[in-house]
Amino acid sequence: MAVANQKGGVGKTTTAINLATALAACEKRVLVIDMDPQGNASTGLGFTPAQRVTGSYQVVVERKPIRGTIMPTSVPGMDVVPSTIDLSGAEIELVDLPEREYRLRDALPPILSLYDFVFIDCPPALGLLTLNALAAAQAVLVPLQTEFFALEGLSHLMRTIERVRRMVNPDLELQGVVLTLHDGRNNLANLVAEDVRAYLGDKVYETVIPRNVRVSEAPSHGKPILLYDIRCAGSQAYIQLAKELIRRERRTSDVAALAS
Ligand SMILES: Nc1ncnc2c1ncn2[C@@H]1O[C@H](COP(=O)(O)OP(=O)(O)OP(=O)(O)O)[C@@H](O)[C@H]1O
Ligand SMILES: [Mg+2]
Repeated sequence: MAVANQKGGVGKTTTAINLATALAACEKRVLVIDMDPQGNASTGLGFTPAQRVTGSYQVVVERKPIRGTIMPTSVPGMDVVPSTIDLSGAEIELVDLPEREYRLRDALPPILSLYDFVFIDCPPALGLLTLNALAAAQAVLVPLQTEFFALEGLSHLMRTIERVRRMVNPDLELQGVVLTLHDGRNNLANLVAEDVRAYLGDKVYETVIPRNVRVSEAPSHGKPILLYDIRCAGSQAYIQLAKELIRRERRTSDVAALAS
């Protein structure tokens, strides 16, 4: 699942690492692939830049086997392919490489049976790193901040997903939209949430991630929010989101089984 939105700071990384942690707590085997040169997912999971020697750059640019780049995290059942400093050059280096959009997709098969869920944390841009993620993914999960420009960004994103389907991955689904950084006391935020639901219906998760200061503190301790403060509203929301995601996946696979 690619966690993507071209808009910056909407909660992509926070959702990738905390949803992954909550799923691991439900005994799912989970991998987070950090495709963002900012490396926020890697740092947020406790890996300092010095600890990150091989990672997604070596997979997509150098075509090293992905297995050798996987690092276990402090959360049982959850691993990470970190982002390394050289990933910041990858957008430019990939341009001249063969199969430039498909290098992550082609790297994944040997490890897919090891995990129930793989989340790919994307940078806030629609460059070749995000395209690699969208080409490799079965579905895209879109964190959306409930603020004034959300709807504008959303229609742009829908057009992008449509274009990605035509160009690189006809099977890509919109897995869902997660409303993030929500301030329920703000009328505008509530109106935006209503509008997004009216536009996308049940593609929008019922669970809403509230704006919660504990969530923003956790990364500086190198911990997912569930390990930092399990009782806070942010942790509880990500646990709810994980349960909802498991329910949805079960429903989808039941429908697929009925159809076959
Ligand atoms: N629910 C929340 N409550 C409070 N702060 C949050 C919440 N979610 C995310 N944040 C904070 O908001 C900032 C942006 O979040 P995050 O890094 O997850 O967004 P992003 O979409 O991955 O950003 P980028 O586009 O730069 O990759 C971070 O400082 C993060 O700690
Ligand atoms: Mg991020």
